[in-house]
Amino acid sequence: MKKVLIVSSSLRGGSNSDILAREVQKGALDAGNDVEYISLKGKNIKFCIGCLSCQKTYKCVQTDDMADLIDKVQNADVLVFATPIYYYEMSGQLKTFLDRCNPLFPQKNKFKDVYLITSSYDDAVNASDRAISGIKGWIECFEQSHFAGAVVGGGLNNPKDAKKQDDLLQKAYELGKNV
Ligand SMILES: Cc1cc2nc3c(=O)[nH]c(=O)nc-3n(C[C@H](O)[C@H](O)[C@H](O)COP(=O)(O)O)c2cc1C
Repeated sequence: MKKVLIVSSSLRGGSNSDILAREVQKGALDAGNDVEYISLKGKNIKFCIGCLSCQKTYKCVQTDDMADLIDKVQNADVLVFATPIYYYEMSGQLKTFLDRCNPLFPQKNKFKDVYLITSSYDDAVNASDRAISGIKGWIECFEQSHFAGAVVGGGLNNPKDAKKQDDLLQKAYELGKNV
């Protein structure tokens, strides 16, 4: 049994990446894992101010919801990030979340497998490449971890479009089942 943390970063109702994240959650639960799902919707997460004091104290000088969320990242074996594609990159919300995980950088961490779930209007095979590249850059900074796979959702523009793509839902479920 693995401890799986799913972080869903879209803020809109009927989010496609969130629908896929929920499928991952179902699969991971069905496989008997300990799964926690969190949405960044409604969370108070300030930008990293770059002071680097966290590199000595392992804590951020800012007080907001990130302190709790960092604990969850630290306790997970598997991380699954879900993001809408904004300007052919990950969402700003997810990037800010990753930046704010900087207190973890100088510490020993246990999360190993990191997955990415994306949704974009563009259904070209490479529409999520920059977001995948971005997450790989973050992963590179945590030597015990590696990029374990992605579900790339294309052709998704309106809320709940993902519900019409059975293959994609199945892919997300299978990803969860096999974490
Ligand atoms: C600010 C913004 C930028 C976007 N940029 C792109 C883009 O570069 N390429 C693309 O295919 N879709 C783009 N989209 C469309 C979203 O990726 C698409 O609607 C996606 O399904 C949203 O995911 P969500 O439902 O999980 O929020 C953009 C949408 C917004 C709001």
